[in-house]
Amino acid sequence: MRIVLTPGALPRLEGAADFKRFSVAVDPILMDDLATATAAIGDMADEAHVWVRPDALRALSPLAGDAGWRTGLETMIGLAAKHGWTNARGEIRAHVEPLAAHPPVEVGAFRDAMRRFASGVCIVAAGQGAARCGMTVSAFTSVSAEPPMILVCLNRSAASHDCVTGAGTFSVNILSASQEEQAMLFAGQRGRHGADRFDADWLDLSGAPVLRTAHHALVCTAEAQHASGSHTVLIGRVIAARSGEDDGALLNYNGALRQGTWAA
Ligand SMILES: Cc1cc2nc3c(=O)[nH]c(=O)nc-3n(C[C@H](O)[C@H](O)[C@H](O)COP(=O)(O)O)c2cc1C
Repeated sequence: MRIVLTPGALPRLEGAADFKRFSVAVDPILMDDLATATAAIGDMADEAHVWVRPDALRALSPLAGDAGWRTGLETMIGLAAKHGWTNARGEIRAHVEPLAAHPPVEVGAFRDAMRRFASGVCIVAAGQGAARCGMTVSAFTSVSAEPPMILVCLNRSAASHDCVTGAGTFSVNILSASQEEQAMLFAGQRGRHGADRFDADWLDLSGAPVLRTAHHALVCTAEAQHASGSHTVLIGRVIAARSGEDDGALLNYNGALRQGTWAA
């Protein structure tokens, strides 16, 4: 059996019926302060061993109600005593080992989970005239209401990434239920790229292109950016807001765009 210690969780006993092995597995994050990490189960014997209280084992074991298990534990403690692995208080010495890192999560499983997170759809846009740029984004969220702040996550390989993140001012145009075509256009799915996708429905507001027909639009100044994995997390402070017509929200769920319309 082994006791597993992980941050923010109660100690867990694994393999309770295996009396031939006994150790304490500690998440690497907790290895710097083993005395605190192991306090719930015993005291440190030296740098690499803990004196584990038998009571703690009984409290953690899913088999503690089983008479056979209790006898097995007594036998294990008796054998440990013969080897000198118990102390005067009857505590059992256990070796501390770092818990192996989690196996990597399969990218397919991650994508599958994220597809099930229903979100709205926006076009993030920046620049002026022939230098306008924009891309469809569902990774958009509110960060703070006072002051009003938002964030978007932009793939660094997207053609518009450098233009938006370098602009200083950008807009987030929240698409309405009927704007699937706009979403596809700015996702590069209609064979058109660059500034020629901005038609007369795009206005210049406070230094960024704003889609007049969007459900709502926010103009933001870039407050911070942070490279994370393949994306840049761009945090913006909202300096202007515009509301358009409310015909419901365009939703991104399970790999498809859907119309979210409800009676008000
Ligand atoms: C519904 C939907 C949501 C998207 N969300 C994001 C997103 O949050 N972040 C991102 O970087 N790309 C997102 N994309 C992909 C970009 O829109 C797309 O890769 C990019 O704009 C392609 O443009 P480009 O041809 O200018 O590179 C999304 C695409 C769709 C269809």
